[in-house]
Amino acid sequence: MKILFVDDEPAILRTIRRTLRNLPDTDRLDLEGDPLAALRRLRETDYDLVVTDMRMPGCNGVQVLQEAARCNPGGLRAVLSGYSGEAEMAEVVPYAHLIIGKPFDPKAITDLIERASALAEMPLPDGLRRRLGGLRALPPLPHLFTHLTKALEEDQSSSLTDICALLNQDMALVAKIMQLANSAFFAGRTQVVRIEQAVQMLGIRLLSSLVLQHEMFVNSPQNPNLLSWRERLNREGLKTAAAAMRIARHRQMSTAEREESTMGSLLHDIGRLVLAAEFQDHPDRGTLLEGGSGIQLCNEEIRIAGAHHGWVGAYLMRLWGLPQPLVQAVAWHHHPSRSGIEGFTTLTVVHVADIIAHGAPGAEAHLDLDYLSEVGCLDDIPVWMELIGSSTSDSAVGH
Ligand SMILES: [Fe+2]
Ligand SMILES: [Fe+2]
Repeated sequence: MKILFVDDEPAILRTIRRTLRNLPDTDRLDLEGDPLAALRRLRETDYDLVVTDMRMPGCNGVQVLQEAARCNPGGLRAVLSGYSGEAEMAEVVPYAHLIIGKPFDPKAITDLIERASALAEMPLPDGLRRRLGGLRALPPLPHLFTHLTKALEEDQSSSLTDICALLNQDMALVAKIMQLANSAFFAGRTQVVRIEQAVQMLGIRLLSSLVLQHEMFVNSPQNPNLLSWRERLNREGLKTAAAAMRIARHRQMSTAEREESTMGSLLHDIGRLVLAAEFQDHPDRGTLLEGGSGIQLCNEEIRIAGAHHGWVGAYLMRLWGLPQPLVQAVAWHHHPSRSGIEGFTTLTVVHVADIIAHGAPGAEAHLDLDYLSEVGCLDDIPVWMELIGSSTSDSAVGH
């Protein structure tokens, strides 16, 4: 693994050197105090991980990460930051996969390196990896953006519940906000699993600049068909989240587990948004949109893109630093028995909620019965179907 650290404070570079001295997997560690020299290094070497300071003389962290993204889009990028201003943070968010607070905990750096190697191990083809690493954000639905901006900009008194209800309509935006809230800059060691928590932590003003910034990432003209498909897919995410909430309550899961299951269910198909956008000119694009049964769809996606939507979603969520149980639930939601995860977890809830919430006749045939029997919840299935049944009458868009 090749790593580049950029910071104009020699003391920070010394700490980094000490922290990483004995770390396995590091075959190259470059410490650079001059940001302009760092730009030159980026053009010469494909670094797997680039970590930079924000404020430096001559050029700032945003420029360093921009160059890193241009030279090697598949690499992991993080910014070390003192208490930078909100505008600065909003500027760096599109290029950084992670924001690390300063003074930083050396553990944040070793975690980051572990994450970079975990990403390297995920079964994604190189081309797709570059595409995903270079993805600055997923575009939000324009109508949602309009509503939300209005609520944020014009009516500062909008209640937290109203704002969260608006945000929850778009899983791409929720994912971006959760990424930011879970970065060490805001959360430290606390894991944020609820959008309400994230909104409170980030504050309305930062959120508003994030949302504004978000619209600028829409780099391709919106195809109207894709737009209505995305709206349906987002509705499915909400339905799945509602189903998950009922299952989690019935199982008497703890509040934290319940929130995690709901979040995982809301975001479970985020990989589909990415694949649809990234392969919109592919001749088999229709197949990616239509769905079919979850496992069939996964097989088609592997044929077309080299990875299925569970892996793609998980890759992005891991890149963004979202909590591991969420990442795993998204990765394996169609194939839980292949996950190797034992016991009743967020994964179990997301798998079942996804299939039951889609509500198509015979959907339960796609439940992974071996896995569910292993987890010991086969007898609960009819109860959950009953609990969820009445709320799932809309048309389904697959998984
Ligand atoms: Fe799915
Ligand atoms: Fe789904």
